[in-house]
Amino acid sequence: MNTIARKIMAMAIAVSFCFGLASCSNASKGSKLNTVASGKLTMATNATFPPYEYHEGDKIVGIDAEIAKAIADKLGLELVIEDVAFDSIIAGVQSGKYDIGCAGMTVTEDRLKSVNFSTSYATGIQSIIVKEDSPIKTVDDLLKGDYKVGVQSGTTGDIYMSDTDGGVGEDRIDRYNNGNDAVVALSSGKVDAVCIDNEPAKAYVAANQGLKILESPYTEEKYAIAVSKSNEALLAEINKALDELTKDGTIAKIIEKYIPTK
Ligand code: ARG
Repeated sequence: MNTIARKIMAMAIAVSFCFGLASCSNASKGSKLNTVASGKLTMATNATFPPYEYHEGDKIVGIDAEIAKAIADKLGLELVIEDVAFDSIIAGVQSGKYDIGCAGMTVTEDRLKSVNFSTSYATGIQSIIVKEDSPIKTVDDLLKGDYKVGVQSGTTGDIYMSDTDGGVGEDRIDRYNNGNDAVVALSSGKVDAVCIDNEPAKAYVAANQGLKILESPYTEEKYAIAVSKSNEALLAEINKALDELTKDGTIAKIIEKYIPTK
């Protein structure tokens, strides 16, 4: 090989090496992170919570699924979504079964005792769904009457409603595995109202005839990603990714796609 040919070859090797480095820089970052399954970001959710997570054919889509995918991409990890009971997510993250819980999950003092939460990426408010012809016109009617309320087990709706202070109390609560079952129970008259976050409430009312939403007195909740207390490094990387995705408009774009304001 003459000198020119050698120089060209050396340059080609250098160029392909650089491209190689650029494309695998995320992946090498991912493999350094300590996750449940190496190279993967295992997310627990409960996919009955449109527009945050729901089934579309055999896929789980929604705001949380897309935000988690964008984070996983930044971290060089492959996103794996596990659809589980909502009230098993915190314990699963705490025990190291899942890397993250991403499920329109509200940050609460109580949950903070078991897991860490990322920076908040969205907000929600508890709403009350009733039948269109319901005698319940206000939340006050609901609290004062002898009405049954359906909730998804372990959610903030469950927590607020089962309290006698501001809710209807334990005896008048029916707990369901998911929001959809609670709404089915409302449509069939098993319960008189459902307490659930405002965006899924809107989606359920749009998808089922004869239902409407009452204003609730509950204040704004912050949604964030639950991460094990023993994986501070992952939490830091997730917060960094969330910060970048907020600054470059990705989060706003994802939310706008599922909750259009125009
Ligand atoms: N925001 C409420 C909570 O954290 C309800 C979340 C329910 N999420 C779900 N994917 N089903 O308790």
